[in-house]
Amino acid sequence: MKLFIDTANVEEIRKAHALGVVAGVTTNPSLIAKEGRDFFETVKEIISIVGDVPISAEVVSLKADEMVEQGKKLAKLSPNVVIKLPMTLDGLQATSVFRSLGIPTNVTLIFSSTQALLAARAGATYVSPFIGRLDDINQIGINLIKEISQIFQVHGIKSEIISASVRHSAHVIEAALAGSHIATVPYKVIESMSKHPLTDAGIEKFLADWEGANQEKF
Ligand code: E4P
Repeated sequence: MKLFIDTANVEEIRKAHALGVVAGVTTNPSLIAKEGRDFFETVKEIISIVGDVPISAEVVSLKADEMVEQGKKLAKLSPNVVIKLPMTLDGLQATSVFRSLGIPTNVTLIFSSTQALLAARAGATYVSPFIGRLDDINQIGINLIKEISQIFQVHGIKSEIISASVRHSAHVIEAALAGSHIATVPYKVIESMSKHPLTDAGIEKFLADWEGANQEKF
């Protein structure tokens, strides 16, 4: 399973990119708004940091023709820009237009397998089911990933599943075991994935033993 970073914060993207673990970036209108910067300038800066990986940038219209216009403007920024579209009938229509133009798409806000199937059949490059927001309403988000993964496998569907709305590292493991192709995660989840108390204790012990051994500094 690949990891994408779910943020519009360029410093977080820079830090995650330096770790060599990031295979893509996803943003959404809320994440863009949180940064308080111009949308296109932000996307351009993200491209300059991680230009060779897919970067999802979302349209903000509800009408198919306007989504297509907005998406075309975003696609001009780089061939790696993926047009993120909401899971609505208009979103599907726009997805199908982008398929015919050869522009990659990510259909977002997926909360059921039927939505994922429709998005895939409309030609979505990626479908984004949201785990955390389902957990928030007392449904088991990961079950949706399992279901979509099984349906896509049985029917040889090529759209890649991006597990989204990932809140903690257990979600990442569950998504990987469920067969998700990608998990898009906030920077703080990448940090928490790297940590284990036995790693910290081990480092402390190694360094204490080294200090006691009176070795030459190197
Ligand atoms: C996915 O592409 C979305 O940006 C994201 O994962 C939403 O997550 P949230 O539910 O934490 O806002």
